[in-house]
Amino acid sequence: MAAVRLFLVALLVFCLRTNPSHAIGEDVHLIEFKESLKDSSPLDSSWIKDSNPCDPKKPWLGIDCSDTGFKAVSAILLMNLGLAGDGPGLDIDALSRLGSLRFLSLENNTFSGPLPEFNHLSSLRSLFLSGNQFSGVIPQDYFDKMGSLKKLHLSRNKFTGPIPGSLTKLSNLIEMWLQDNEFSGPVPSFEQKTLQTIDLSNNKLQGEIPQSMSRFPASIFQGNADLCGPVVSKECRAAAAPASASPEDTSKESQKSGAVTKWVILAVVVTVLLVTILFNAKKKEENFKVLGKENMEDAVQVRVASINRRTANSMRRAGSYNEAGSQSSRRGGAAGGKSPNDLVVINEEQGVFGLPDLMKAAAEVLGSGGLGSSYKAVMANGVTVVVKRMRDMNKLNRDAFETEIRKLGRIRHRNILPPLAYHYRKEEKLLVTEYVPKGSLLLLLHGDRGAAHSELNWPTRLKIIKGVARGMGFLHTEFGTYDLPHGNLKSSNILLSPGYEPLLTDYALFSLISSSQSAQALFAYKSPEAVLYQLLSPKSDVYCLGIVILEIMTGKFPSQYLNNQKGGTDVVQWARQSISEGRVAELIDPEIANGSSSSLDQMEKMLQIGVTCTESNHESRIEMREAIRSIEEIQV
Ligand SMILES: *[C@@H]1O[C@H](CO)[C@@H](O)[C@H](O)[C@H]1NC(C)=O
Ligand SMILES: *[C@@H]1O[C@H](CO)[C@@H](O)[C@H](O)[C@H]1NC(C)=O
Repeated sequence: MAAVRLFLVALLVFCLRTNPSHAIGEDVHLIEFKESLKDSSPLDSSWIKDSNPCDPKKPWLGIDCSDTGFKAVSAILLMNLGLAGDGPGLDIDALSRLGSLRFLSLENNTFSGPLPEFNHLSSLRSLFLSGNQFSGVIPQDYFDKMGSLKKLHLSRNKFTGPIPGSLTKLSNLIEMWLQDNEFSGPVPSFEQKTLQTIDLSNNKLQGEIPQSMSRFPASIFQGNADLCGPVVSKECRAAAAPASASPEDTSKESQKSGAVTKWVILAVVVTVLLVTILFNAKKKEENFKVLGKENMEDAVQVRVASINRRTANSMRRAGSYNEAGSQSSRRGGAAGGKSPNDLVVINEEQGVFGLPDLMKAAAEVLGSGGLGSSYKAVMANGVTVVVKRMRDMNKLNRDAFETEIRKLGRIRHRNILPPLAYHYRKEEKLLVTEYVPKGSLLLLLHGDRGAAHSELNWPTRLKIIKGVARGMGFLHTEFGTYDLPHGNLKSSNILLSPGYEPLLTDYALFSLISSSQSAQALFAYKSPEAVLYQLLSPKSDVYCLGIVILEIMTGKFPSQYLNNQKGGTDVVQWARQSISEGRVAELIDPEIANGSSSSLDQMEKMLQIGVTCTESNHESRIEMREAIRSIEEIQV
């Protein structure tokens, strides 16, 4: 951490001496790329050398920047511009010098020729090239070094030859569009669990579709006349009738059948193992379901022993798993000589305790969210904690996970509630934090404890918003290099101290959670740019802050918190419309709307900040720093 700070300070000093606010030389690299295009006229008026591509006042067309202490180009989005260029002629190496580039779209232009070396951009998350004239065969190993890729769109081009096998190894891939090309050869077996959307339609693919692809609908194979197999309900005839073996082959044949027997035995063993494992998993799943029912909002008192027994059971199961030396734990390379049953205390402010203390504690279910369920536990030493059970979270290996959690636990700020301890097992993690009696802002604003709502007068609400902003400012400095310094800011993750000082929890978990899980678990994924382009940046946190401000000011439950958007109030739309129609006063929660005219004036200013923070175009949305500055100016 100290080293990182030192590095940032050094970088800052360096930047201040040369150029105030953007990564050095990015304009040069972008211009180099532009000059390698055949037709770049649409860019000429805004892509100007020696100007700052990240200047919010004079933005370069299609350039989006992340703000990680200094600004750097994170996305190049050049869709529908009539740009032209010859694949191999494009200066991809110029782009590879843009250290923060994660998103590249050249969709719906007229680029042609073989696919250039986009694979030198090894940090790309999204590559969108649909609707061009790219052609030729893509090398089998083309995607070997693109492990960060989540979305790949190559549809509506003229690619030929086999689908590159390296695509099957991209372990973060979520979406892959290859439709409307001339890909031929067999369908590779895509087994990545992350993969949600895939389209292979209208190509020239041939042969039997691997059984592993049956989880996808048949429609993704449409328009490939020579595909067959159960997946598309079409029998593969030619291969079914093998020619009778010639006499010389018989010895080989019997050897082969010996081998087949071995394989069969192995398959049976594997199946038995799998059934056992699945059975265990099922049992666990049921536990979760039961817990789900015991729920939720009204914090049902659970029989004291139940969590303890359950946790103990699953611990024991985990222990025997490890003793048995299961393949999965070996392959996962967890080990490291640590006992799997340790509770690791990372912050001793509430004393040192162990798993036995937790197990002896009186427990109560608090609720369940995108990450897992939470319990309140009162330990014998009088300390009350919240234990969050989180499934999976295996994006990082054990060592990296521990390093990261310790980093989160070292945070000290009056508006941040750091974790106290954690427990690591491959299939589950426990995260322990201090229990805060007043509960969350969500409960206080919308819970049915009627009195609580009116405790929240305007000065208190302002104090909460300012505290949240300060906590966010701190996180954005401390985790300035992260895509999502918080990532999950919402009223249920804002706890309130007895003096109504807000405490942020569940922060900076983005790096720990696999992409498929985080899309469901982290509120930042509801920001418009994440929904539309899978683009996540510190500005997604600004959006979340805006929702919280609008929620606090209107007293309404934002529909944005719900997955189906049914119920609640679309606070963003409502606020925008009322403000544009000059009816701002209507937005203010009646509970606080009886203030003096000067305070009403301040409330309206705060609503305006909420609207600015939720600006749907992330390019024109304000930065966290500016948002905090405006919030600090508001007075009671
Ligand atoms: C590109 O063109 C296709 C077909 O005309 C259209 O469906 C798609 O929305 C366009 N993409 C963008 C980013 O505008
Ligand atoms: C506004 O109304 C609340 C209750 O609704 C009350 O507690 C408060 O004193 C009122 N404030 C003023 C300035 O009238």
